[in-house]
Amino acid sequence: MEWKIPLSDIDFGLEERVVVDHVLKSKWLTMGAITEEFEQAFAAYVGAKHAIAVTNATAALHLACVVAGLGPGDEAIVPSLTFVATANAVRYTGATPVFADICGEQDLNIAFHSIEQAITDRTRAILVVHYGGYACDMPSIMELARERGLKVIEDAAHAVGSELGGRMLGTWSDVGCYSFFSNKNMTTGEGGMLVTNDDELAKRLRLLRSHGMTSLTWDRHKGHAWSYDVVDLGYNYRIDEIRAALGNVQLGKLPSNNEQRRHLTHVYRDALQEIVPQVTVPFQNHPGTSAAHLMPVLLPPDEDRSAFMEAMKTQGIQTSIHYPPIHSFSAYRGRGKPHLPNTDEIARREVTLPLYPAMSDEDVLSVVKAISQALQPA
Ligand SMILES: Cc1ncc(COP(=O)(O)O)c(C=O)c1O
Repeated sequence: MEWKIPLSDIDFGLEERVVVDHVLKSKWLTMGAITEEFEQAFAAYVGAKHAIAVTNATAALHLACVVAGLGPGDEAIVPSLTFVATANAVRYTGATPVFADICGEQDLNIAFHSIEQAITDRTRAILVVHYGGYACDMPSIMELARERGLKVIEDAAHAVGSELGGRMLGTWSDVGCYSFFSNKNMTTGEGGMLVTNDDELAKRLRLLRSHGMTSLTWDRHKGHAWSYDVVDLGYNYRIDEIRAALGNVQLGKLPSNNEQRRHLTHVYRDALQEIVPQVTVPFQNHPGTSAAHLMPVLLPPDEDRSAFMEAMKTQGIQTSIHYPPIHSFSAYRGRGKPHLPNTDEIARREVTLPLYPAMSDEDVLSVVKAISQALQPA
């Protein structure tokens, strides 16, 4: 269907075509010099010592769980209001995800007190998700984790370019994971990045990304090695040069695109407050600077969400839901129903509005006017 205003849009231009063409002409497609350049530029941008590019954020999360030492019998605390990959990554290692609740209407992130309550003597790690690019309470979570000897992994899939207390999100914890999926603030189609300041973790992540092999095809091509050993049970989670080239260009555009996302978020907040004050807008005056990946709103408690979204669709406006909570999925249901009252309540009312840098202020106003048409009369 042709949307008047789609949910998201990609900022691709001639720059992306030129660099991809360059890679194709070079005929070196697998991970090499351009990937190294992308990793260095990304590490510098977020202020991390190491950046390791991978095939997607799900692979990044899996590797992060492996290097955090998760395995059968262990537990890792995760939010349920996230994409399923956050919890799946824990399960790939044989460990069990334990769901914690979110803070409430104003903060859709994992709640500190719920993490504290979920800790048992089997807990090894906490995975936090910066929902929509808005920061979790990292100072408190890191302090708790250090006290209890737990690893922390940041799912920063939404938070590329977000900052809290002068530190980029993704760099607060042991390992940060970013996504470059096609609806993200910067995209390579599929793609992801791990960051860490820990030399040993970085070394292991690099090994695990490529079969646990001590040298890469690229090293052998450059004449730096002619054979290799396999020293760990690794995976093929490599990115390629085409995607890394896209990543370099997209990273350059990220700061201004994120700025525009924040501007549009402000326009949304003002217009929503004025025209449809019965709609709740989370993350008002939230600490830090968000990458403004999503524009979530909460419908009034008795609103029929499906009817609302259908009425938006009729007006040509695409909306979405972030997220059906993971504990409600069939593949997770057999594990007993966790007590997550805030997650259950908010997940039922949440609707995500269109947000992308090419939107204009007028587009935002059109969406808000469409909302006032779509809502049930009071
Ligand atoms: C919060 C979150 N975590 C993880 C992922 C997985 O990212 P990818 O598609 O790059 O594997 C996504 C992607 O949508 C996400 O939104």
